[in-house]
Amino acid sequence: MKLTDALRGEHAVLFELFAYLDETIRASDDLQDIRAAVSVVERLLVSHARIEEDLLFPRLEPHLGQMGPLAVMRAEHGRIEGLLDAARQEDDVAALKSLIGQLLNLARAHFQKEESVLFDMAERFLGGAALTEMGDQWATARTVIVTGRGCMATH
Ligand SMILES: [Fe+2]
Ligand SMILES: [Fe+2]
Repeated sequence: MKLTDALRGEHAVLFELFAYLDETIRASDDLQDIRAAVSVVERLLVSHARIEEDLLFPRLEPHLGQMGPLAVMRAEHGRIEGLLDAARQEDDVAALKSLIGQLLNLARAHFQKEESVLFDMAERFLGGAALTEMGDQWATARTVIVTGRGCMATH
């Protein structure tokens, strides 16, 4: 599987988790409930951004340079992590919901940019063979083996 397809699949799961977090902050004023929902999103979102920064961005750098889209994507990852840090330290429910609203807007727009611009550039500049090899590295990073029949957890 190509790395870009794996990342698109992770986005699809994360979009569902964003909807879940959105519903939680609309339905609940309970700090513990909201914190629990954020921590699920945080775990997958942070590891997703790390995989992009470790596997994809360095390979695109020779084609795109350090500025331009990669600088924007890295800066947005930083802002997402900053909002997650702030959310972890926020004890006021209304302020926490506001931080989560900002996080969801930013993360959704970021994913749309990656899907509409960055992943297409990756497919154009790197090609299918390199992206498939990078997909194997993604499988190792996620501790799964990608077989002809699909993904299989190794633990
Ligand atoms: Fe990203
Ligand atoms: Fe992404």
